[in-house]
Amino acid sequence: MFYGTIENKHGLKHDPFKAIVAPRPIGWISTVSRDGICNIAPYSFFNAVGEKPHYVMFSSSGRKDSLKNAEETGEFVCSLATWDLRHNQNMTSASVPYGVDEFPIGDLTAAPSHLVKPPRVKESPAALECKFWKTVELPPLHPGGEPKNWVVFGQVVGVYIDDSYVNGGMVDTGAMRPIGRLGYMDYAVVTPETMFAIDRPSVEEAMAKVKLRAAE
Ligand SMILES: Cc1cc2nc3c(=O)[nH]c(=O)nc-3n(C[C@H](O)[C@H](O)[C@H](O)COP(=O)(O)O)c2cc1C
Repeated sequence: MFYGTIENKHGLKHDPFKAIVAPRPIGWISTVSRDGICNIAPYSFFNAVGEKPHYVMFSSSGRKDSLKNAEETGEFVCSLATWDLRHNQNMTSASVPYGVDEFPIGDLTAAPSHLVKPPRVKESPAALECKFWKTVELPPLHPGGEPKNWVVFGQVVGVYIDDSYVNGGMVDTGAMRPIGRLGYMDYAVVTPETMFAIDRPSVEEAMAKVKLRAAE
């Protein structure tokens, strides 16, 4: 099948876009309002977008509370959403009114961050402390229409890792069991059993293949 996304007539039960761009990492974004009230919510339009300096982004479908707080106070924290915390993170996605702290809703403990005001999730094995850089408003579907998506970029200025997940100088991602978002209401989990490693090819290896193909 093929369909154009302007019409978006896919003929399926739901838009399949997010079932294809999967798994997506979950940025569990905590912020603090101007009044000092904490806010936390999961965002799967989230990813790392650069290193040295380290940058992440999350995208708000509509102008949500995390976006407002990040813009107004200039800081946010991304805690790692894990298998053990899957229900807690889900609870924090409830669309409660602005000014309601979702930490108690998710049965979560707010732990102080090192370099920014928003707390991290104490129960989470890792967290990224971020300084807001800028928001990019994505163009609407039709020129002159209402914008729908705002992408927040932040520089990661501090990284928290629970030392018990560091083995032999490496972070044991499989032991953390991070979860990712798929389409619909589905999730995936990274475990040691589902992880695999592949070494990158050398230029020599790749060029040998080019010669081989050319000789065919
Ligand atoms: C796993 C998961 C991922 C989500 N990803 C996004 C996302 O990328 N963008 C978005 O706008 N909402 C996303 N949501 C919904 C928000 O978490 C929800 O609207 C929440 O109430 C926003 O909270 P806030 O207004 O406090 O920022 C997601 C929900 C879940 C459960």
